[in-house]
Amino acid sequence: MREDSQEFADRVSREAAARPPGRNVGGLRRLAPYVARYRLLVAATLIALLTASGATLLIPVAVREVIDLGFGANSAELVHRYFAAMMAVAVVLGLATAARFYFISWLGERVVADLRRDVYGHVLNMSPEFFETTRTGEVLSRLTADTTLIQTVVGSSASIALRNIFLLLGGLVMLVVTSAKLTGLVLVFVPVVIIPIIMLGRRVRGLSRASQDRIADASAQAGEVLDDITVVQAFTQEDTERGRFNATVEHGFEVAMLRIRARAILTALVIVLVFGAITGVLWFGAQGVLDGSMSAGALGQFVLYAVFVAGAVGALSEVWGDMQRAAGATERLMELLSAKPAIAPPVNPIDLPASTQCQVIFDAVKFHYPSRPLDYALNNISFTLAPGETVALVGPSGAGKSTLLQLLLRFYDPAAGSITLDGVDITKADPRAVRRRIAIVPQNTIIFSTTARENIRYGRPDASDEEVRAAASAAQATEFLQKLPEGLDTFLGEKGVRLSGGQRQRIAIARAILRNAPLLLLDEATSALDAENERLVQVALDALVASRTTLVIAHRLATVRRADRIIVLDEGRIVATGRHDELMARGGLYARLAELQFTDSAEMAAGGQLKLLKF
Ligand SMILES: Nc1ncnc2c1ncn2[C@@H]1O[C@H](COP(=O)(O)OP(=O)(O)O)[C@@H](O)[C@H]1O
Ligand SMILES: [Mg+2]
Repeated sequence: MREDSQEFADRVSREAAARPPGRNVGGLRRLAPYVARYRLLVAATLIALLTASGATLLIPVAVREVIDLGFGANSAELVHRYFAAMMAVAVVLGLATAARFYFISWLGERVVADLRRDVYGHVLNMSPEFFETTRTGEVLSRLTADTTLIQTVVGSSASIALRNIFLLLGGLVMLVVTSAKLTGLVLVFVPVVIIPIIMLGRRVRGLSRASQDRIADASAQAGEVLDDITVVQAFTQEDTERGRFNATVEHGFEVAMLRIRARAILTALVIVLVFGAITGVLWFGAQGVLDGSMSAGALGQFVLYAVFVAGAVGALSEVWGDMQRAAGATERLMELLSAKPAIAPPVNPIDLPASTQCQVIFDAVKFHYPSRPLDYALNNISFTLAPGETVALVGPSGAGKSTLLQLLLRFYDPAAGSITLDGVDITKADPRAVRRRIAIVPQNTIIFSTTARENIRYGRPDASDEEVRAAASAAQATEFLQKLPEGLDTFLGEKGVRLSGGQRQRIAIARAILRNAPLLLLDEATSALDAENERLVQVALDALVASRTTLVIAHRLATVRRADRIIVLDEGRIVATGRHDELMARGGLYARLAELQFTDSAEMAAGGQLKLLKF
């Protein structure tokens, strides 16, 4: 089931709150190139910001004038004028604040859109090695949660921080100007009020995150169980699952209670401390007004500035956490952006010569997967595929057959030796040019969550509807596709869950047929088909194979016998090559595999063990 946009937004913001913060906010500097692209927007934001802060700082002055001069002189004329001035300030403040919001949000959205585009574009170029060490989930978190954090900072926190720094400094200056004596008093009060509030506030936030995490744990647990409820019931584990869920829920309740207690204390503390401080300062100020050392208006002005300053400090402490987390997000995104793909086109890639039937040469190729440096998946592999030739690759599961195709597609480079395609060492060509020559039906069929038509068209996006239909029919897919509710336009569900294995495989074959590339790689392409459909698909594949070079990893003897040549692979080495009869006469691994296959198709006699030994 797809989540709706509200669920997605909730999940992303929960995830964003849980992302680790950066070591210091300096990491945010690396966003500078992204922000600098929009100098005009930045300038507009700054102007709006300064105007709004300036207007805010003017309000208390207007208030004092009204109190002292207007009321004092008892002049109705002056009162009119000051109230008009205050109204004007309010209008400026309103417009400037709206403008700041508009420009800064625009900047935030723009920067994040650029970042998302760059990161995704970059990740699409990474080689499989990268995805073996980085979980896809982590990449997605960086694309969504981390960019959201940056958006918060660029599109709001940064401007809140700037505005409050400005208000703080301006407010402090104005406090001193208004009354140096009272300012001294406030400076004593501020830490006493602010520090406990900030500390307790942090604890409340930490606890509410923890309780959200507990809820997420519980729902993840429940989701897993409900997805596979039949297994739970079949193994009569309902009580265990109930207990496990209860424990998580109770733990969540305890964390929530901790949060609620802290929050209650915080509320009391905030009210008592803040009102206490204001009352205290007012009381001192009132003494001044009484003994004539200060005007009533000045006291009002002072209190307003004190409120601004306290508010600014509070707001700064609020956005500080955002800035830290955004700094962490920036570090992670920049790390992704600077990751170099292991496979990249050379500076001056050599063009592959035009050809309709590829020639492939493996010369003493040695290869191990990056995660297994000591274990050669391919060892000293040499062979040639002549143009138009069909070669079958056989060997027990794990022999290295699929690995060989991965190297040919240049998902990895050999540790030693070379692979040549149409006379060009593939490491000297653009990997995309190499892959454009190849159509593959992979061992695991990949179906995208779109229509059958678009899935087939993935082989060649510019193919016409007629060509798509022809490919589907050649892959024997027309019959089952016609039975789907909307034929070729039926949505196949995520990962093609609405199709059987054999149906998925026929779509993959249609895709390869449509691609019409000079080199065809089949990795157990018909393994999920029943005998009847396989015979039909085989006819289509035969036509395809006849006109191009083909390397087929075969699991059925019928396919193997049709090949011009057979290469037998075992534990990463070529142990024999030849035609079926020669290899049978020689005995050894091939004969053993072939014999099992015969038994398999003839009587199904030997049972489960056969499935382990796949051709
Ligand atoms: N991505 C990978 N990382 C590490 N080892 C791998 C990876 N893929 C395959 N292998 C290992 O390489 C060997 C050859 O695998 P593979 O080429 O898939 O075999 P086959 O296709 O012949 O069944 C196996 O031992 C397998 O476990
Ligand atoms: Mg394989």
